[in-house]
Amino acid sequence: CGIVGYIGTLDTKEILLKGLEKLEYRGYDSAGIAVQNDEGIHVFKEKGRIADLRKAVDDNVLGHTGIGHTRWATHGAPSHVNAHPHQSTSGRFTIVHNGVIENYLQIKREYLQDVNFKSDTDTEIIVQLIEKLVNDGNLVEEAFRQALKLLKGSYAIALLDTENDETIFVAKNKSPLLVGLGEDFNVVASDAMAMLQVTDQYVELMDKETVIVTKEKVTIKNLDGEVVTRDPYTAELDASDIEKGTYPHYMLKEIDEQPLVTRKIIQAYQNDNNELTIDADIIQSVNDTDRIYIIACGTSYHAGLVGKQFIENMAGIPVEVHVASEFSYNMPLLSEKPLFIFISQSGETADSRSVLVQVKELGHRSLTITNVQGSTLSREADYTLLLHAGPEIAVASTKAYTAQLAVLAIFANVTAASKGKELGFDLVQELGIVATSMEALCDSKEGFEDIAREYLATTRNCFFIGRSLDYYVGLEGALKLKEISYIQAEGFAGGELKHGTIALIEEGTPVVALATQESVNLSIRGNVKEVAARGANPCIISMKGLEEEDDRFVLPEVNEMLTPLISVIPLQLISYYAALHRDCDVDKPRNLAKSVTVE
Ligand code: G6P
Repeated sequence: CGIVGYIGTLDTKEILLKGLEKLEYRGYDSAGIAVQNDEGIHVFKEKGRIADLRKAVDDNVLGHTGIGHTRWATHGAPSHVNAHPHQSTSGRFTIVHNGVIENYLQIKREYLQDVNFKSDTDTEIIVQLIEKLVNDGNLVEEAFRQALKLLKGSYAIALLDTENDETIFVAKNKSPLLVGLGEDFNVVASDAMAMLQVTDQYVELMDKETVIVTKEKVTIKNLDGEVVTRDPYTAELDASDIEKGTYPHYMLKEIDEQPLVTRKIIQAYQNDNNELTIDADIIQSVNDTDRIYIIACGTSYHAGLVGKQFIENMAGIPVEVHVASEFSYNMPLLSEKPLFIFISQSGETADSRSVLVQVKELGHRSLTITNVQGSTLSREADYTLLLHAGPEIAVASTKAYTAQLAVLAIFANVTAASKGKELGFDLVQELGIVATSMEALCDSKEGFEDIAREYLATTRNCFFIGRSLDYYVGLEGALKLKEISYIQAEGFAGGELKHGTIALIEEGTPVVALATQESVNLSIRGNVKEVAARGANPCIISMKGLEEEDDRFVLPEVNEMLTPLISVIPLQLISYYAALHRDCDVDKPRNLAKSVTVE
């Protein structure tokens, strides 16, 4: 979910709606705004997208104070009643909330037995609890803090009070939230992108802090009411980076940006002598470790699987890769000197953050590889390596994945060099070849559109097979296809299919096979024959030098270890065109959110 707030001199509706549009990547099940003026608080909310909310907003209602929310449903189905903002019984208080209140049932039982709840959300208990505490005789600010002290879980909150149209009450714990500063106005937002339209000056908030926001002033206080001072920073985002320009979809724009991003990464990690370099403290930590644990979710997890090969092959350090949401309760026996690497495009994923909190408590070192400077995971880990990919807006990750691979390759390479290992190739040059090959692939879009039409226009399911690195890219290809076209897709290790899954192969089932690794070329081609013999419709994507007559597409040749950086591009494009053919919402697929800030 994402939240915004504005208090100032302008009419707030358009600022809030524009802000929410920028936050839609955090969820788009429903959305709402509350606008405050002399007459009171006016709430508009709608199931669906911000575009639907826009239609529901009454243009005649004007107000200089307001809050807004875009939702990814957790407690309660996506519906009009469960959409935020939520109001207390008397209508005095109005709230928007991102996060999950874990003890909401207990609070309901202990404090709010007499309240008639309007929604099924955990959020409503917060606003009802504040009203109860005010009715019990507390001042609003005091009631706000007392309520927060009773909550367990995560929250980014903005609250309006009908009896005070000069203040937004704000609080944060675990869920991301920033306060933006302006002249004669101030704003709040889940991320800086949302309010870049009005300011680039932001103040970070720490967990368990509250903020009293008026149009002249922001006052940060801890839960005991003590004032905290913190300097603002300038958000270095280019507003044009977050527009889609002439592209029909962000996803296509972001796929096309991959060659440029790869070049930017090479530059960003080179020193004055054109040698690859990373922070000496990071190298020191890597050289001190006996085992690296990569923690990530979704696409970033798939990048981690490839990263393990890079690090083990180049630097010779053992690596384990774990899905963040499983790690907390299935923590493996750790080595003596572990180093944790968190891979996260957004730097905000709650599942990964919860592991970071856990390993910090254990006193272990941590490094975050992220696209967002100043994100929670970046702030809280010991070290950060940035992806330099520019904002990624489409929910399905593309350029962040290849950027993660490039940064992981550089990390592995620099570590190897620090250990005096001879690799026999120049990574700068090899990544340069990768960037050029990416360009060639982005220029071959019609070919991939044909493949999508031919294999995926009407299919119910699809398999991606590969061995070694190709297997990991296949997992990512399957995820892309599932996410945006809703085709049941599975990635499998070529050799594992025969142990069960091959039973699903029917006449015409599409099987996309990657054959880019010389060492396993014959075996994967054997697997293709096995599925073809059972009626599958294979689509082989191979690499120059390894190609055979029936291959559907031959990738330009790059260093064998770096093939995932280019073999994923056909899979991204095939998924894109499959989604288009099937009339799916490419940039905002159903049920998903780009950044999931709840566990
Ligand atoms: C969400 C997105 C995925 C993404 C995952 C991890 O589930 O829908 O596309 O891969 O989060 O996100 P992160 O920002 O941590 O890389």
